[in-house]
Amino acid sequence: MCYAIPGKVEKIEGKIATVNYFGEKKTALNELVSLKVGDYIYAQGGFAIEVVPEKEALEILAVWKETFFELQDVDMRLSRLDLEKKGIDKKLTRILDIAAECRTVKADDLLYLLKLEKDEELDLLFKTANFLRRKYLGNSCCVHGIIEFSNYCSQDCSYCGISIQNKSLQRYRMTKEQIVASAIEAHDKYGFKALVLQSGEDPSYSVEDLCELIREIKSKIPVLIFISVGEVGITGLKKLYDAGARGLLMRFEASNPKLYQALHPGKDYASRIKHLEEAYKIGYLIITGGLIGLPNQTAEDLLSDILLAKKLHAEMYTFGPFLPHPETPLAKAPPPKTKDVLKVLAVARIADPKNAKILVTTGFETLDIKAREEGLMAGANSVMLNVTPDEFKKNYSIYPNRAHIDEPLQEQIEKTLAILRGLGRAPTDLGISNA
Ligand code: 5AD
Repeated sequence: MCYAIPGKVEKIEGKIATVNYFGEKKTALNELVSLKVGDYIYAQGGFAIEVVPEKEALEILAVWKETFFELQDVDMRLSRLDLEKKGIDKKLTRILDIAAECRTVKADDLLYLLKLEKDEELDLLFKTANFLRRKYLGNSCCVHGIIEFSNYCSQDCSYCGISIQNKSLQRYRMTKEQIVASAIEAHDKYGFKALVLQSGEDPSYSVEDLCELIREIKSKIPVLIFISVGEVGITGLKKLYDAGARGLLMRFEASNPKLYQALHPGKDYASRIKHLEEAYKIGYLIITGGLIGLPNQTAEDLLSDILLAKKLHAEMYTFGPFLPHPETPLAKAPPPKTKDVLKVLAVARIADPKNAKILVTTGFETLDIKAREEGLMAGANSVMLNVTPDEFKKNYSIYPNRAHIDEPLQEQIEKTLAILRGLGRAPTDLGISNA
């Protein structure tokens, strides 16, 4: 199974390689010492990660070529912007016209979109977001894998089921060997090219342990590694980057400092933001975002969440619903509605139309079984599959009844590919920008 299309290197200038995919040219940052013009490579998140032998590349491309253009046709048909504007509020029409022409939509107008409630208006909003996704990013859809290697956590975030306060949870910690073996299986057997290593804030793994883990994985398989282990300090971030991590997944959770403080006793909002800012400066790809539907959260808060993710240079936006966990202080707070989540995805797309990868989270799929299709048709273009071994993943209980928890990985992959195919999307990650 393959989650990226090999491309042919046409030009190398300094650290930038220009790569050709069926005539479309993209650029990738080259960290492969021996890369030459004419080589075939896999790129992930804008990094060239692996040279593919020519024979193998040509075989894969032959299979892809048949479907590549067919998928694009399906996507083109499904994302056509046929805005039926009869009876629709003039202000909405004006805002969506500005968005569709890719002119900047002002913050007040983004807020107006976040406050829409009527189904026919929401339908136009989602169509516009989907149109922009196709126009600027084509039909590629990131499929990253995530390994949740420890559910121990020293923090007590008031919404989170693996918080230190949850005494009834069975805790686990995978050994370094188990984590490396899962990563190798995800790459060799299932074809993942980008993996997130996630855990609670578990002091048992020192930064040095994590560095060793990353170095070992990188020495065995060519993957793009994202870390998601909470706040490790700026020096920690530097060390992990030097060990080979290239992405940081860290939500700021809530951009409103008061809301953040109320949910994260003893934590420092400024420190969270500092991690994200410094990580970008170090060179990390940033995946960030927040929770939707938190108690006391307003539409203004959600708008500032979206704008903060953009300001932090999110290469991927991760916004998911708050889901009440019975063993937390927020057990009785209601989750948001599906349309509240879709609105955030669509407005994020309109706020950052050209570059953003926008994730349909597992949390959203837990809230609504149709989330993947609906999210992908409302501006989103990324999914993450859980590649944690079955024996552990059921205890990574950040919220209850997680989607796909009983599905073996092969089944998750098949279902995902079927959905992507139906929507005309290719499971690829073709790089940072058009050359
Ligand atoms: N509902 C939804 N998402 C949650 N997370 C933690 N607890 C919950 C919950 N109850 C999310 C946080 C964190 C990610 C790993 O899990 O946003 O960043």
